[in-house]
Amino acid sequence: MRTVLVLLALVAVLTAKVIRMETKKTESLRAKMIKQGTYHDFLQKMHLARANSPMVFATGSQPFIDYYDDFYLGNITLGTPPQTFMIVLDTGSSNLWVIDAACKSQACHGYPDSNYTKHQFNTAASSTYVAETKKFSIEYGSGSCKGHLATDVLGFGGLTVQKQEFGVANSIAEVFGYQPVDG
Ligand SMILES: *[C@@H]1O[C@H](CO)[C@@H](O)[C@H](O)[C@H]1NC(C)=O
Ligand SMILES: *[C@@H]1O[C@H](CO)[C@@H](O)[C@H](O)[C@H]1NC(C)=O
Repeated sequence: MRTVLVLLALVAVLTAKVIRMETKKTESLRAKMIKQGTYHDFLQKMHLARANSPMVFATGSQPFIDYYDDFYLGNITLGTPPQTFMIVLDTGSSNLWVIDAACKSQACHGYPDSNYTKHQFNTAASSTYVAETKKFSIEYGSGSCKGHLATDVLGFGGLTVQKQEFGVANSIAEVFGYQPVDG
């Protein structure tokens, strides 16, 4: 809350007067270690990798849309055959969720004046879908969503994750019904 207030105060100051500040881009520690060839040893030391297992770095590319400088949108696929979803690439959280086709609320379908019809996940149409009994519930600054967890094949930027756990939401906040997002 304090962070939000400080940010609001900053925004108020910034809109009143242009302040310039020099920033510097530096490589992440991870990027440095990869370049130096020490990353695998580091992961082993942290018990995150086995000895002698080859280190494979996957690469791919992903176009994204800047939505009014508020968030970035990108496409992913879930399921077999793949179903496409345009989701918020949220750098502030590590949770993936999409809307359950069984959700009947207007928010889950997208409000007509949002000019966006949501893509909902048809779990029955995916041969690799596995439901879990565990429930999930997330509270964001803008709204909440809840449902249950599941695993399925995820496609993103040309890469594939065979068994990705994610949330299947059967209830989402009204605000998401006005945004061009599926999750
Ligand atoms: C996602 O795919 C749809 C349909 O192919 C396309 O219209 C949309 O622009 C794509 N969005 C992004 C962020 O790439
Ligand atoms: C939806 O489309 C209408 C007609 O083009 C436009 O007036 C309105 O601003 C659009 N709404 C959004 C949220 O983009």
